[in-house]
Amino acid sequence: NHPQSYNCWLQYNAIDDVSVASFYRSFCQSFVVLCDRTPLINSAIDELQRGITSLLGETPTETGKDDNQLVLGTLEDVAQEDILDRISLANLNEEGYCIRMDERQHQLYVLGKTEKGILYAVFHLLRKMQLNEILTTEEVIEQPVNQIRMMNHWDNVDGSIERGYAGLSFFYQQNRFSRQWDRMHDYARMLASIGINAVTINNVNVHQVESEFITAAFLPDVARTADIFRAYNIKLFLSANYSSPMQLGGLSSADPLADDVREWWKEKASEIYAAIPDFGGFVIKADSENRPGPFTYGRTHADGANMLGEALAPHGGILIWRCFVYNCHQDWRDKTTDRARAAYDHFMPLDGQFNDNVILQIKNGPMDFQVREGVSPLLGAMKDTNQILEFQIAQEYTGQQKHLCYLVPQWKDVLNFDTYAKGEGSFVKDVASGSLYERPLSGIAAVANSGDAYNWTGHPLAQANLYGYGRLVWNPELSADAIASEWITQTYGNHATVLKTIKEMLLQSLQTYENYTAPLGVGWMVNPNHHYGPNVDGYEYSAWGTYHFADLHGIGVDRTMQTGTGYTSQYFPENEKRYESLEACPDELVLFFHHVPYTHQLHSGKSVIQHIYDTHFEGAEQAEQLREQWKSIKELIDEERFNDGLTRFNLQVDSAKEWRDIINTYFYRKSGIEDEHGRTIYS
Ligand code: GCU
Repeated sequence: NHPQSYNCWLQYNAIDDVSVASFYRSFCQSFVVLCDRTPLINSAIDELQRGITSLLGETPTETGKDDNQLVLGTLEDVAQEDILDRISLANLNEEGYCIRMDERQHQLYVLGKTEKGILYAVFHLLRKMQLNEILTTEEVIEQPVNQIRMMNHWDNVDGSIERGYAGLSFFYQQNRFSRQWDRMHDYARMLASIGINAVTINNVNVHQVESEFITAAFLPDVARTADIFRAYNIKLFLSANYSSPMQLGGLSSADPLADDVREWWKEKASEIYAAIPDFGGFVIKADSENRPGPFTYGRTHADGANMLGEALAPHGGILIWRCFVYNCHQDWRDKTTDRARAAYDHFMPLDGQFNDNVILQIKNGPMDFQVREGVSPLLGAMKDTNQILEFQIAQEYTGQQKHLCYLVPQWKDVLNFDTYAKGEGSFVKDVASGSLYERPLSGIAAVANSGDAYNWTGHPLAQANLYGYGRLVWNPELSADAIASEWITQTYGNHATVLKTIKEMLLQSLQTYENYTAPLGVGWMVNPNHHYGPNVDGYEYSAWGTYHFADLHGIGVDRTMQTGTGYTSQYFPENEKRYESLEACPDELVLFFHHVPYTHQLHSGKSVIQHIYDTHFEGAEQAEQLREQWKSIKELIDEERFNDGLTRFNLQVDSAKEWRDIINTYFYRKSGIEDEHGRTIYS
């Protein structure tokens, strides 16, 4: 029993501010529901009652229309009432909502454009209450900026989670669904509270048993899971195995142009939709990291994706095809192959060839979720193709939920990146929202960081990434600071010192992590396979295409057109020029784009080698500061979460030292250049 850890940001602690409590109490004695009861509306009402009971100590009762109450309904339900500024509501999308105080009858209207909006309006109201904020008489009008707001779980049916750092899967155990329906329900609530509206529940690497999720053996459990999510406006998708027709259907190929294969998928889709009428569709990882795909048959990604899209289309399903396609059997001796180029090289020529219900899912960086890399040049480049941006909330390369690393600032940098695709101001966030090219389908997906740990995320502060992802994807204009404040207050209560301390920690953590790990955008330097902890040459002579090329003179990957792999040419001209030129390239990415001598002077005025030494000494110290800051609020938060945090900060401090010393020693030995400040570098 770990309620505080488990409830994350839905603590609903009693409101201690008397005036705030009395403001809400005056509306919350009773409520009326104007629309039909559906599972979704029931979820909204359950949440409202649960939240208010706990926040105000009184359970609101359902009554008929009355004064002094909450009024729940759709905009249509109140069409006859003269309470709203209709003009501003006309264009709301179906998930939009409005909260409006009517002072005459002293009613608080909690209205959705559709029932979906009602659910989100309820969570909005409860968030305000948890934040101790009084609603003003002005209308709250909100709608999500991104249409698809997705969570990708990399859970395997054996109960493990690929890149999972928060225990095991709560979806599966020992090759079956765990049937922990209550836990799934709690998870769905949590996701809905931050606006998530789509999930995949299994790993993109679809192994033997998971391939059978789309058969009678598993479909009833999948359908039950879909029911739970549906009641929270979350559509269920599955990762599917591209070669299912062979594995499940006994066909001799999975050739996307073969009639029997096409027929097989069509029948399969009908079977799935018979079990789950609003099934979202498939996410496919094909011809990537040894997964099967259309290349085997000499077909293109468009052939493969469209074939599946066609099978799903009659049922309203969507096919999401991942662009994480590159040569993972590279020869490290071959300097002409550049993994960063791969997604663009594969997919750009296919722009315009994908069906309307097909979406390409593009990782934020062209390599793989490093603490720092360029923004994928594929984002925005394809004008005639639906695109979803992919982030990783799971901290595979950012401390694995043992280190504190608040990722919202990184995601914001990506979203605010100007691609120049349609001239200045063509931001990645506009690609994701679909507005740049007015695409019918678009959005953002992310690899989840949740597991069966009692606090869902392992590190208690990693909950901030889960929360922050949802909030940011709902509205990319929210600042990292504002999201942090919301999360801290709801999670740890309304205490100024706690707020200030944890916020400083969160906002500093990404820079700290970057300081003590791989420098200046070069990436990796981690232990192979599990990717935790420093190992500078761990991947240097491997087949994965992730090299730093450090020698006695210098380091970095030359991705220029002049002398390197030509990757810079994949950007629109403004960015291409900026990255191509060593003078113009921002410091933080210099080793991502250029191979430079250790003595190369950065814009900061420091040499590369001195920058490496300085940031590594500083980063390790900052890790210790994080631990001190955490200790300073020991008395102000509960023991369990404090101790869970402390255990992780201890690991982080040790690991940061290890990073510092291994990196500094490595480069000292390579370069023979002394630290200007004479600090300890082990020779
Ligand atoms: C990373 C990760 C893999 C994962 C892959 C993917 O490379 O290490 O575990 O399968 O990304 O996104 O498909």
